[in-house]
Amino acid sequence: MTDVWSDRADLYRTSAIHSAGDDLDLVVEWCEPAAGVNVLDVATGGGHVARRLREAGANVVTVDPAPGMQADVLSPAEHLPFADASFDAVATRLAAHHFADALGALKEMARVASHRVVICDNTFVSESSEEADRLRDPSHVRNYGVAEWASFFELAGLEVAEQRFMERPLEIEPWLARVDCTGADAARVRELLGDRIVDGWMNLPTLVIKGVHR
Ligand SMILES: C[S@@+](CC[C@H](N)C(=O)[O-])C[C@H]1O[C@@H](n2cnc3c(N)ncnc32)[C@H](O)[C@@H]1O
Repeated sequence: MTDVWSDRADLYRTSAIHSAGDDLDLVVEWCEPAAGVNVLDVATGGGHVARRLREAGANVVTVDPAPGMQADVLSPAEHLPFADASFDAVATRLAAHHFADALGALKEMARVASHRVVICDNTFVSESSEEADRLRDPSHVRNYGVAEWASFFELAGLEVAEQRFMERPLEIEPWLARVDCTGADAARVRELLGDRIVDGWMNLPTLVIKGVHR
């Protein structure tokens, strides 16, 4: 996979919206970290989920397909190189919208989890917002809606145990700069987002779901 992600690795390590937030707190809480609990952090990126889980005492393995992210294991989410039920919990945060096959990835996460799977991602707003996301970053595949996530969990054989919807404030200019989106492309992204942008900020609707094996 792509060294686009490796080139961006340091920016994701220091990004404000990735390194902290209510969504990060909830993902960590719902993984139920403690000494002796084994957790897999899928698409670890700058490693924020893993860092927080380790601080809470869990044993964590990280996986990401981009070498620059320096994960423990290099692999896409769609093909996790682990045996069935290898981890107590499996999490992925702010990454599923980049997966080529989000449902396939969720099925893999469910397969390697013995108990719980926690997903956190931005949700669908409109087709013009999707176009803005793809123009800003061609590795964007799709933000899914709440109903789509519900059907993915069902198809992956997971029961939704907890679900929370939140809005995260995103500052537009650092978001564009992080992926080097400038000039006419940046102007078009701002135009496509339209009145979602207020004083240089936009609210990102975000869903956190915890699924458990039935
Ligand atoms: C925005 S970053 C992840 C953020 C991180 N989870 C956090 O909480 O800060 C997106 C990550 O998804 C990874 N990625 C892209 N496609 C992927 C795939 N098919 N499977 C797994 N990871 C993928 C990228 O390499 C990148 O590290």
